[in-house]
Amino acid sequence: MTDIEELKAHYLVAIDACAGLEALETVRVEALGKQGRVTALLKTMGALSPEERQVKGPAIHGLREAVTSALAARRAALENVALEAKLAAERVDVTLPVDAILTGSVHPVSQVMDELAEIFADLGFAVATGPEIEDDWHNFGALNIPDTHPARAMQDTFYLEPQARAAGDGHSPSSDGAGQAGPAPFVLRTHTSPVQIRTMMQQQPPLRIIAPGRVYRSDWDATHTPMFHQIEGLVIDRGITLGHLKWTLETFLRAFFERDDVVLRLRPSYFPFTEPSAEVDVGFTIEKGKRVIGGDPNGPGGGWMEVLGSGMVHPKVIAACGLDPAEWQGFAFGCGIDRLAMLKYGIDDLRPVFEGDIRWLKHYGFAALDVPTLSGGVGTA
Ligand code: DAH
Repeated sequence: MTDIEELKAHYLVAIDACAGLEALETVRVEALGKQGRVTALLKTMGALSPEERQVKGPAIHGLREAVTSALAARRAALENVALEAKLAAERVDVTLPVDAILTGSVHPVSQVMDELAEIFADLGFAVATGPEIEDDWHNFGALNIPDTHPARAMQDTFYLEPQARAAGDGHSPSSDGAGQAGPAPFVLRTHTSPVQIRTMMQQQPPLRIIAPGRVYRSDWDATHTPMFHQIEGLVIDRGITLGHLKWTLETFLRAFFERDDVVLRLRPSYFPFTEPSAEVDVGFTIEKGKRVIGGDPNGPGGGWMEVLGSGMVHPKVIAACGLDPAEWQGFAFGCGIDRLAMLKYGIDDLRPVFEGDIRWLKHYGFAALDVPTLSGGVGTA
């Protein structure tokens, strides 16, 4: 019996002394494992006479229980210590001022894209997207752009090697292409207008979408970069008129430039995919020596600045998408996002916009929680 008492005292002390879970496991194996000393004692019970068993049995079982529960208690205590340590190490101070933990900033182009999505969401427009590697039919053919159009020339458009075609979505009716021999080529999309086609092919009108995104042309000077951003707008419904177009653009531009006195001028123009077509100018004036969008363009220092192209969707485009132009009409517009950003936030050179210079971004970028406003003034670009 004293053996059993000694063993119990020994293990209770050993368990209490364990400083970690590994040490505890060693003690457990030593006592209760297959070769353990407590296990060995339990095994001797079978050979005992009934009288002996009556005396020794409860003591041996008591030993096993005492050791088992001491192990469990110590394990819980050690796990608790580990959890406390982990929590202390991963502590986040939610009371720190926000600026102290902000390291990045929002690029002005991303900022403007967000603003545009928000303005048009209020007008009931959804955001649509399309691939940047586009096929000839979506980029040109379906938009009624003739084979001879200068936009199709090599010096304006990036054409892709035939191997790259697999990257397209295979949705290119090659017979509808540019009319060249062989399959129609793939291009880096030269504008966001192909998203008009994709939307009309995939959804049933009435439709109201904007499509912001990257576009590509082989240009490089102070006002042109090979990659830039456009936003496309498309409305298809019954009974749509030029009046709807003008109201929508006026509402959009007033919201974007944050001034109710922005006035528009629609100048007759030509785009193959709209008829009639109009280029849209906004009036500017000089305020405190700075050019600002808004005010009376006929006043001193005032004038007009072109901001976008637009028009009524050409019936041929509507028909190319499988819709009946006698039933469905619509308007479309396309606009350079980078130029909008430059105008609104006073950026006067386009090239650094895409150079990724952190100093430039610190100057023109926005903190994630900023609510930007017409702070930089309007550039003279
Ligand atoms: N896609 C034209 C371009 O890149 C811009 C444009 C003009 C888009 C008129 C339109 C539009 O939707 O109606 O120059």
